[in-house]
Amino acid sequence: MTDKTIIRFEGVKQQYDRSTVLNRVSFEIERGKFYTLLGPSGCGKTTILRLIAGFIQPTEGNIYFNGKVINNVPADKRQVNTVFQDYALFPHLNVFENVAFGLRIKKLKNAVIADKVKEALRFVNLEGYEDREITEMSGGQRQRVAIARAIVNEPEVLLLDEPLSALDLKLRTEMQYELRELQRRLGITFVFVTHDQEEALAMSDEIFVLNEGDIQQSGTPTDIYDEPINRFVADFIGESNIVPGRMIADFRAEFAGKQFDCVDQGFSPNEPVEIMIRPEDLEITEPEQGNLEIKVDSQLFRGVHYEISGYDKAGNEWLVHSTKKAVVGSSIGLRFDPEAIHVMRFGETEEEFDKRLEAYSDPAQAGAAGDGR
Ligand SMILES: Nc1ncnc2c1ncn2[C@@H]1O[C@H](COP(=O)(O)OP(=O)(O)O)[C@@H](O)[C@H]1O
Ligand SMILES: [Mg+2]
Repeated sequence: MTDKTIIRFEGVKQQYDRSTVLNRVSFEIERGKFYTLLGPSGCGKTTILRLIAGFIQPTEGNIYFNGKVINNVPADKRQVNTVFQDYALFPHLNVFENVAFGLRIKKLKNAVIADKVKEALRFVNLEGYEDREITEMSGGQRQRVAIARAIVNEPEVLLLDEPLSALDLKLRTEMQYELRELQRRLGITFVFVTHDQEEALAMSDEIFVLNEGDIQQSGTPTDIYDEPINRFVADFIGESNIVPGRMIADFRAEFAGKQFDCVDQGFSPNEPVEIMIRPEDLEITEPEQGNLEIKVDSQLFRGVHYEISGYDKAGNEWLVHSTKKAVVGSSIGLRFDPEAIHVMRFGETEEEFDKRLEAYSDPAQAGAAGDGR
């Protein structure tokens, strides 16, 4: 834990009745960054937000805020505010009173409330909308009112539970920029929840990828995209080719019936692994000039690129993103660099995975094999 840490979960387990929805989760959140909890529906994202907000208490483990255990601190005593998925605005109150609600409960003076509400509305570009009825506001504007209502309390952490999922695509993209910009201007910590991987990649400093009550992997968007820890993360974040293989030795992998140079090390000889290559890392060549040959099965035009799929001689399917066209039924070659081959070990924990990757960039840890390519 560093002095930048604002929230820490230590072995936090959450059970409802008898079913476990979080399995002893541990993580740290640093001050002033944009975090995203990403995962499919039901994986425990909202549960983590509810634990941070204090709406529920953990079955096991500890939650720290600024270094102190807050397991039993009530929600209204935490420096945290939540923007809910359905906004939860008061339809019978106008914009001003919706934003002022929490300040009125705190019994602040009217003049102070007026200043703070004005400032919050300015932050979300709703200056001058004070007297509007909520029912007269569009979806995007209601979203902004909900955010203003949360930031008017000057929380240290803002929790946002799928706040953009009800908006149409164009508005959603706009709001993604706005939220990111708002976080930078406010300088507070955002914990944002989404099941949309593109949204997570576009907005976050750090992403936690969740599945079935476990954090599978945490890291920057590029870390997670470039080096997914396992099949779940690779599949969930972007498109990927995953085929069975084995490690012959350090820097030598076998898959699709052939051997290839790669950049991975630290496996036992002949250890079975999964090989992942991103579709955009495959280059189309003449059949005999590639690392692999596939027979093209289908092709779709996707605007920026063609999406081509086909099968190699071992029967593995390969997806290719290319600006070059291919002919369905023909054979093409696929060329890729050793760096494009990503080797995933079965059942590896995040700690083991991070250690293995660190060794790649640290020759002292990697030993004599470090520059042996
Ligand atoms: N109050 C509750 N009682 C029982 N089960 C719940 C309750 N809240 C959530 N769950 C279950 O916990 C799991 C995780 O829920 P949740 O955190 O809301 O997931 P997410 O936000 O990722 O979709 C789900 O299987 C959900 O059905
Ligand atoms: Mg949820």
